[in-house]
This record gives sequence, structure tokens and C-alpha cells, in this order.
Amino acid sequence: MESPLTALANIISSGVHDLEAAYSKEGITLPATSLDDDPRLAYNKRLIVAAAAQIIASVRAPVDVLKESVGSVYTTATLGFVIDTKVADILKVAGRKGLHVNEISVITNVDASHLARVLRYLATRHIFREVSPDVFANNRVSSLLASTRSLKEIKADPDARFDDAPSAAHTSMYADEGLKSAVFFSKYLQNPEDSLPAFNMAFNTGATAWEWYGEHGNEWRGRRFAAAMKGNAKRFATEIISNGIDADSLFGGNLVVDVGGGVGSATLGLYKTYPHLQYIVQDIDAQIHAAKKYWEENAPDAVNTGSVKLQVHSFFNRQPIENARVYFLRIVTHDWPDVDVKKIMSCIRTAAGKSSKLVLFEVLARFTCKTSSDSSPYPLLGNLGIAGAGIDTVVDMHMLASYDGKERTETDFKNLGLETGWKLESVKPGVLAALVYSPV
Ligand SMILES: C[S@@+](CC[C@H](N)C(=O)[O-])C[C@H]1O[C@@H](n2cnc3c(N)ncnc32)[C@H](O)[C@@H]1O
Repeated sequence: MESPLTALANIISSGVHDLEAAYSKEGITLPATSLDDDPRLAYNKRLIVAAAAQIIASVRAPVDVLKESVGSVYTTATLGFVIDTKVADILKVAGRKGLHVNEISVITNVDASHLARVLRYLATRHIFREVSPDVFANNRVSSLLASTRSLKEIKADPDARFDDAPSAAHTSMYADEGLKSAVFFSKYLQNPEDSLPAFNMAFNTGATAWEWYGEHGNEWRGRRFAAAMKGNAKRFATEIISNGIDADSLFGGNLVVDVGGGVGSATLGLYKTYPHLQYIVQDIDAQIHAAKKYWEENAPDAVNTGSVKLQVHSFFNRQPIENARVYFLRIVTHDWPDVDVKKIMSCIRTAAGKSSKLVLFEVLARFTCKTSSDSSPYPLLGNLGIAGAGIDTVVDMHMLASYDGKERTETDFKNLGLETGWKLESVKPGVLAALVYSPV
């Protein structure tokens, strides 16, 4: 058998060979953004990244691995700073030739040497590019930090800055709520029974993040969160939901309830393909308010004809819609600890009829060691490390810090069902797994 290092190097070299062949077929050379999201290349790219990360961890001095890891707090802090000062927006105007820090300094009113050091820190990690000494330009990563609006438009309406820029919204949110909450992470985990989650300690509030976003003064944060979520939702094809609820098997008039549905983006995708079904989107007041505008803009007939109803409902209260064919929740349960997920599932169980289904759409937590369900090649981690479950584990930590929430394994979901009167009938794998339950 090959040594681990040789096997990793071989994964990289054969992956790169295949990737370059695919790019050259399209007449382009790497790096290029045009094939970034091509699903045909996704697995190959994942293997290359997984192997590269594992080679780095294998050959780098352990002390340097630790120093780089713990220092990544400054990646979050510097990203927050460049978002606050709109550096990527400024560099967008400058284009490929970039801009000297002295000029960025005049626009941002930030010391030029501070700017240079921050941008060099990020460029060292392949975010921004130092074109010549002290001259920086956006690269394909830092471009994502820019708004789709001009600097003038951002100044005129700062709250709208992130509306169509989900990556910038997401980065800003992590550098704000995330970084501040992380300070209280260890304190919370050492005493979870007697304290509120790290987010609550950081912002000195007893409210859930959802309530807090609706408070006066935080509306812009709520809007930023919604923009970040829109980006996440884009990753989830409608087919995930339609396959999960087995929409092809439903008849006209069958009722589908999107519980904690936000503005109803999952339902909108369903409605476009299955307009003969009846839908109800439920969420708290602020979201349903936003949902009205969303549906007016995207499918006004759906609400006007009654095919889609928007309903204010807290999923901790008795579910008002009885005997629906399907109740589904997309990326909701990971926001809550087990005790609350059981309440949510129980409330739906009380309203469910014999042939109702409950379908949860969530990321499944995966082990790093090899298990019988992994297909990762030797010697990669069972979950492909940062290239596989990496971002899922980031989200898991963010859920833990923000809401005492949790990314769960299949067994966790099975047990939650057993305790609330639901049998986990099947798990359909995917970017989001569909966990399909029947009443017992
Ligand atoms: C992560 S978002 C997911 C939204 C939507 N399911 C989607 O996939 O786009 C979680 C949603 O849960 C909603 N939520 C929070 N507390 C709630 C409650 N008590 N009752 C109903 N919805 C709630 C939030 O307002 C938010 O829209």
C-alpha cells in the first residue's frame, strides 16, 4: 500500500489533471470563476482540497498548525474590518490594477499602514492580491465581500447594502454576532445549565436571536441575516424539497405546511413546479410581514388565489393546521437544543393525521473517522475534513454559540422521533438530508 503522503499527493495530482482537462475543454485556465459551481467538478475539487489540507496538516510543524489555527481569530477580525470599511467595494472600482493603500486611506479615513498590514494578512491567506508593494486588488475571494451596489448607493441606503450580497452578509454577520459570541463560548460550555447561550451573554439579552433581530435598532442586522440566508437557500435546489416530500405522489388540494418557513423560499420553489397543491408558510410575525412582500414580488397570484397562505404561528404553540399531508421544516431544527426540537415535533404530532408526514431538511453531522457509510478514498478523513463537513462544523459551532443549537447525526434524529411519537421511516441523502417521519 502507498504511504499516506504519497497517496495524498496522488489524489492531488490525478485530481488536478482531471480538473485542468475539464477547464481546457471549455477553453479556460484555472483559477477562473466560471466553473466554480459546476456540479460535475464538485467531488473532484473536494478531493483535491481534502488531500491538500491533510498534506499541510501532515508535513507542517504541529506548533505552526496550532499557531495558525488559534490565530484565525484575526481572519474573522480583519474580514470584519474590511467589510466595515468597504475595502472590497473600493477595490471593485479600481479593477485589476488595484489601488495603493495611501489612496484607500483617503477614502476610508483609516491609517495607510494599518490598511497595508490587514490586507497583507488577508492576501497571505489568498483573500485580496498584492499587485505590487502596498497596492492591493480584489481577487475571486475578496470580490465576494463587495456589495452589488455602488459606494454612493451604499451611503444613501446603508441598510440595503447586503441585500444582494449574501457572502458579504454572511461574513459581516460572523464577524459581528459570531465573533462577539465566541468570546463567551468556553464560559457557556462549562456551565450550560446556569447560563444563557454565548450569544445572549455577548449581547446581554434574554431574547432569542430571532426576537432580538426584531428589536428596535437591530432591524439592519435582521435584514443582513435574511440576506445571508438567501445565499444559503440558493445552494438548495428545489428538487431536494420535492424529492424529500415526494411531491410527485401528492394530489391536487393536498396540504403542505412549511413550518418556520421564513419568507417561504422553499415553498416558492415547490409552488412553481406543483401549483395544484395547497401551501401554508408559517413563521413569526416579522418573517410573515417580510413574506408578504416576497410573494408579491415573486408570485402574487399564489397568495391572491389562496394556493399559498402566509400564517403567523410560533411552532412552540399548538399547531393550528390539522391533518396536513406534509409538515416540513427546512434548516430549522439545527437552531434549537433537543428539548425545544422535541416541543416543536410534539406540537406537530398532536395535529398530524394518520397519513401525515413530517419531513426535516437538515445537514447530517458526520464522523471524522471512517464508518461503513463513507466512501472517502484512503487516507482521507471519513467526512473529507474541511472539504467535506468543514463548513458544516463551522455552522455547528455557530449554532451552539448562538442558540445552543446543534447539527445532528441520523441517530440523533431517530431518537428525537422516538421521543415525540414519530418513526423515522427514511433518510434521503444530499446537501440537505431529508428525514422523513410517519406518526406512530
Ligand atoms: C434558519 S431560518 C430557516 C427559514 C426557512 N425554513 C428557510 O429554509 O429558508 C429559521 C426560521 O425559524 C423561524 N423561527 C424562529 N422561531 C420561531 C418560532 N417560535 N415559530 C416559528 N418560526 C420561528 C425564524 O424566524 C426563521 O425564519
